[in-house]
Amino acid sequence: MTAVQSLMRIGVAADHGGYDLKEQLAGMLRDGGCAVVDFGAWQLVEDDDYPDFVVPLARAVARRKVDRGLAICGSGVGACVAANKVPGARACLIHDIFSARQGVEDDDLNVMCLGGRVVGQALAWKLLEAFLAARFNGAARYRRRLGKISELERQQVSS
Ligand code: RB5
Repeated sequence: MTAVQSLMRIGVAADHGGYDLKEQLAGMLRDGGCAVVDFGAWQLVEDDDYPDFVVPLARAVARRKVDRGLAICGSGVGACVAANKVPGARACLIHDIFSARQGVEDDDLNVMCLGGRVVGQALAWKLLEAFLAARFNGAARYRRRLGKISELERQQVSS
């Protein structure tokens, strides 16, 4: 974890399917000097629902209360679907280092979703490191594409 990364405020959220992995990764982030904001779940409850934790996290990312978000459910799919309903949140289910980095560089990914029943702790940490180390490229073509998504969000809010 570099000094810059350690300045980051990272929001984390998980349902029962991602609870253990969230706890592990949050601890590793704190050990690395990151400020971690935990949006729950705060205990393992086998019948809890990922939107209850992921949506507040995604809102915090969209409002820049935290710099990046990590959302985990069993597969990562539900967390991704829920987070992307929040305007300004750009979430993706990540399984590989290339996408963890390029998703930020090209698409300004700000919420990384993981499947707690899919990836182990060691791979999850490598994915998280790649996600946090990456920065949005800012190239005109990337801004143009993101602008079209922002416009879609504005239309949906006003419709
Ligand atoms: C487990 O309830 C599972 O459905 C949930 O954690 C998540 O994987 C949904 O996408």
